[in-house]
Amino acid sequence: MMDKKNIDWSNIGFGYMQTDKRYVANYKDGTWSEGVLTEDANITMNECACVLQYAQTCFEGLKAYTTEKGDIVTFRPDLNAERMIDTAKRLEMPPISKEQFLDAVKQVVEANAAYVPPYGSGATLYLRPYMFGSNSVIGVKPADEYQFRLFCTPVGPYFKGGAKPITIRVCDFDRAAPHGTGHVKAGLNYAMSLHAIVDAHNQGYDENMYLDAATRTKVEETGGANFLFVTKDGKVVTPKSDTILPSITRRSLMYVAKEYLGLEVEEREVLLSEVSEFTECGLCGTAAVISPVGKIVDHGKEICFPSGMDEMGPVIKKLYDTLTGIQMGRIEAPEGWIYKIC
Ligand code: PLP
Ligand code: COI
Repeated sequence: MMDKKNIDWSNIGFGYMQTDKRYVANYKDGTWSEGVLTEDANITMNECACVLQYAQTCFEGLKAYTTEKGDIVTFRPDLNAERMIDTAKRLEMPPISKEQFLDAVKQVVEANAAYVPPYGSGATLYLRPYMFGSNSVIGVKPADEYQFRLFCTPVGPYFKGGAKPITIRVCDFDRAAPHGTGHVKAGLNYAMSLHAIVDAHNQGYDENMYLDAATRTKVEETGGANFLFVTKDGKVVTPKSDTILPSITRRSLMYVAKEYLGLEVEEREVLLSEVSEFTECGLCGTAAVISPVGKIVDHGKEICFPSGMDEMGPVIKKLYDTLTGIQMGRIEAPEGWIYKIC
């Protein structure tokens, strides 16, 4: 066993902690350079860099885990690579190849193995690949030079309280427009959500439920996770929309629900007006894993799920245990889901 850093793994939250090495590659004259690892966590660029003026930036998020056997693995990083390619194309950025993305993941995790939280600690190593337009641009157009970076930071639960159900509100601000960028992981989507999340926190809510911007009748997602609902008869339902991020966690959970737990699953439009009929609700994503939602407040009207405010409902709990079991090597994974790093 290698020496781990002296960190109180079980008590860290979802925050940034600088680690030893990160990966950097540059795009210039039409090609991506071979990447290198660097100890320099800071970036220097021109005042007129496209990312600074016109927010030409995108990112991904995935995690590395220590399994029960002591291996260090990542979960479906190929899907993050593919999504970053889709995002880059939508933002007129040069996609980085899947091979280079996966190599960056491997190099960074290996180089920071001392920061991968031990098995059973409840923490994981969060990986943050990102890319931005780095040369100066003053007329509105894409950059022609870019930087891709990937750093990592150990993290605990995204929501304070871990598995405790959270309270969210139906939000009056929109996150994504029809035919906009809601389906890709553009930094600008998160910029859009900053005012809404500060306002939600000020009002005592943990997160925002965004509705479809066109009709404001359909459930979309939160600022950083997709929704899962459970019906009275045990079916798992998730909203289908062209303006939400195609969560890798959600896609994996729908598979797990069907193939591992034998549940019925449905990806379809979900109306806000039917949410009160569900028995359980959860938020799913890399950072959120599955965070149970106990209550949704719609302009003073409370929707309280029968699972309550103390613990996860039974179906969400089963999904959580199965997914984390697969990620930590306690349960056999579907072929190709687990990438062993070292
Ligand atoms: N939705 C949004 C807006 C997100 O930022 C994320 C996080 O990546 C997700 C959903 C969950 O996606 P994933 O499961 O791929 O992490
Ligand atoms: C992730 O889950 O990886 C995300 O990018 C969500 C972000 C809000 C932390």
